Amino acid sequence: MIELGVNIDHVATVRQARQTVEPDPVWAAVAAELGGADGITVHLREDRRHIQDRDVRLLRETVRVKLNLEMACNDDVLAVACQVIPDQATLVPEKRQEITTEGGLDVLAQPDHVRRTLDALHDKGVFVSLFLDPVPAQIEMAKRIGADAVELHTGTYSLASPANVTRELKKIIDAGKLITSLGMRLHAGHGLTLHNVEKIAQIDAMAELNIGHSIIARALFIGLKEAVAEMKRKIVLP
Ligand code: PXP
Repeated sequence: MIELGVNIDHVATVRQARQTVEPDPVWAAVAAELGGADGITVHLREDRRHIQDRDVRLLRETVRVKLNLEMACNDDVLAVACQVIPDQATLVPEKRQEITTEGGLDVLAQPDHVRRTLDALHDKGVFVSLFLDPVPAQIEMAKRIGADAVELHTGTYSLASPANVTRELKKIIDAGKLITSLGMRLHAGHGLTLHNVEKIAQIDAMAELNIGHSIIARALFIGLKEAVAEMKRKIVLP
């Protein structure tokens, strides 16, 4: 069964817009779990624009499913991760000016830097996934430096025009085969919605999908518990 990790950063974004205490991502995690989330995903960014250190600490105490911490290879965030010890860390690239994560981590450009973060997390017993574009050389390097899983970046697929969507999907399917043939766990995420998720969920050996924006957007109208439940129904294969 595919695990659904629900990314609740967007709840913290609404809170930070007023620098106040609500809505609390800790409450959102409870509602997501009640809707059937298999994991709670948060990105502690270097600039702390949405999720705060306090959120990660409280979530560690309260989340009963998998806690997945998205993070850049950055010493300050690594120190928090090594204190909190999430179940899983997903290493992502980070640029200050970006609206959201743009593309996968370039592990080929900085294998030693990524490996240092990965090794520090492994020393704490954390399962480590790398967020990568569906590029074979990146995936092979992830294996070489000891990654446990690869989360394939589905952003390009999700934004592809009808003329290009089949080509983008094929890149993800082929990359998925390589990831599993190398013995790593296959994850995917970014830009997935009720309308484009099925083809990704049908990929062989797909183990985990991390979805945020579209679930939180629908939650405004139907509630978070139901928004998670409807996504779960969509990704569970008959
Ligand atoms: N996976 C990773 C690594 C991400 O950075 C994000 C965005 O924070 C997501 C999944 C979720 O993307 P979306 O909000 O578009 O569903």
